[in-house]
Amino acid sequence: MKCLITGGAGFIGSNLTDELIKQGNEVIIIDNLSTGLEENINKEAEFYKLDMRDFAKIKPLFEGVDYVFHLAAFARVEPSIKDPIASNDINLNGTLSVLTAARDAKVKKVIYSASSSAYGDQVEMPLHENMPTKAMSPYGLQKYIGELYCRLFSDLYNLPTVSLRYFNVYGQRMLLEGAYCLVMGIFANQRLKGQPLTITGDGEQKRDFTSVIDVVEANILAAKSKNVGRGEVINIGRGKNYSVNEVALMIGGDSIHIPARIEPRETLANNTLAHELLNWTPKINLPDWIKKYKIELGIE
Ligand SMILES: NC(=O)c1ccc[n+]([C@@H]2O[C@H](COP(=O)([O-])OP(=O)(O)OC[C@H]3O[C@@H](n4cnc5c(N)ncnc54)[C@H](O)[C@@H]3O)[C@@H](O)[C@H]2O)c1
Repeated sequence: MKCLITGGAGFIGSNLTDELIKQGNEVIIIDNLSTGLEENINKEAEFYKLDMRDFAKIKPLFEGVDYVFHLAAFARVEPSIKDPIASNDINLNGTLSVLTAARDAKVKKVIYSASSSAYGDQVEMPLHENMPTKAMSPYGLQKYIGELYCRLFSDLYNLPTVSLRYFNVYGQRMLLEGAYCLVMGIFANQRLKGQPLTITGDGEQKRDFTSVIDVVEANILAAKSKNVGRGEVINIGRGKNYSVNEVALMIGGDSIHIPARIEPRETLANNTLAHELLNWTPKINLPDWIKKYKIELGIE
């Protein structure tokens, strides 16, 4: 099949590209390299350095495409709080441009990378797809509105879409530095440099850390599944969470506490729907992965 991936130079998009190519598919990548890296791009993919908001330039690339995996985004919480206008423009106008190009080309399905940040702070755990959303950042709200656009395009134009709400994703090629870095990358980098791990707040905030390997599999199953395509929203989370303190212990070394951030206390996915609709079962466990990761980094 012919696949188009927006954000294919990024962390998750490059892992998805590699797997699709490994499985014998043709892959076209659109990425403006704002956070993505050229070195992440699979040599067998057809790469276009374009901004997805440039509708006139991206539209012809969708001709003859079977599946669109839409991952490109201004993809982190803190930077979106600092610059809500920029993140809104990228996330909403970008998504609209991609959906419209997909509609015009009559692709078979759009698989949208949604985010558990749409849930915000909830009392009830685990989080399930029917809960009202309560985003705590421009990013979370924008990712949620992207889901609504996907559903609208399914209803209004008969464009098959499905939204996958990922929970904190980790794995190969996650960033180790910078404003876009996740807790695991931050800790690993600090350990590598012999610095103390910086735990935000009391460190008791819990996250449902999900392997990029499982996230990639969910995307491919969502493309192939006949059960989805009407704008469904599906949690893609491991279904087990760990506190930041527990992650710090797994990485090891000294730690210090820094001021708390605006963030949910806990995330934990109810992943029943993903199992029912996609036959998806996450396979990778965080503690096992951290053990291997530390050996790779030489910090055991
Ligand atoms: N990493 C996570 O934990 C996580 C969790 C939930 C949802 N998501 C979603 O998954 C997707 C991928 O996230 P990631 O962690 O791989 O982020 P990433 O920043 O590594 O990848 C995003 C990619 O999009 C590209 N991009 C950004 N703006 C663009 C534009 N205007 N035009 C073209 N390309 C553009 C970037 O250069 C980058 O390569 C995002 O949609 C994100 O919201 C990620």
